[in-house]
Amino acid sequence: MDSFVFKILTTAVVFRAASGGVIPTFAGPWNVWMERVTTCSEDDKRVFFKISHFNPSKKFENQVWNGFINITDEMDDTWWSKAVLDVRSNNQWKENAFIFFFPKNGCSGARETLTEIFSQYFGKKGTPCRLVKKCVYFENTTVAHVYPRIPILPYGFYRLKITAGITGAKEPVYCIILLSHVIPKIES
Ligand SMILES: *[C@@H]1O[C@H](CO)[C@@H](O)[C@H](O)[C@H]1NC(C)=O
Ligand SMILES: *[C@@H]1O[C@H](CO)[C@@H](O)[C@H](O)[C@H]1NC(C)=O
Repeated sequence: MDSFVFKILTTAVVFRAASGGVIPTFAGPWNVWMERVTTCSEDDKRVFFKISHFNPSKKFENQVWNGFINITDEMDDTWWSKAVLDVRSNNQWKENAFIFFFPKNGCSGARETLTEIFSQYFGKKGTPCRLVKKCVYFENTTVAHVYPRIPILPYGFYRLKITAGITGAKEPVYCIILLSHVIPKIES
């Protein structure tokens, strides 16, 4: 088992212990649908997406995205990147249920973890990772979520916060929040 996946499984155990059995947390192969994607601050206008509603009776249909993400700063492997998942429980966010942190090689970490529609902007795998300055537009873009590095997750409603910044700087350059629903894998 590769060490990245191992870390996630370890965190999953912690998560279940922390919930004290209050939340029924069934973990397994999963799919995800997005409710909303925004920046972390209203002042940051670099992300704007309208995402089509998820249709529970057509679970196999990928959602359609319209909008843009404005890459204003070039990112490479001198950066760190981080993904923090808060999980919804008893009408509250339980913070830091999962943390994926790439203290070094944050660009490659993101490229290897993200689904292809996003990872493609970090350059081809096997080449030095570089997210170039560009405003990326989605026009009726079908977003398929494929995350082979994370085969198992507990099902639930998550607030996923993705941040990335320059080495040595605590304040991120990018901060994006994705409200996401992790559901049992849809068999096709
Ligand atoms: C993207 O960011 C650049 C640099 O800040 C800015 O000039 C441009 O207007 C932005 N584009 C959009 C669509 O917000
Ligand atoms: C996107 O989809 C909507 C609704 O189906 C359609 O009206 C619109 O023309 C499409 N836009 C593009 C750029 O394909």
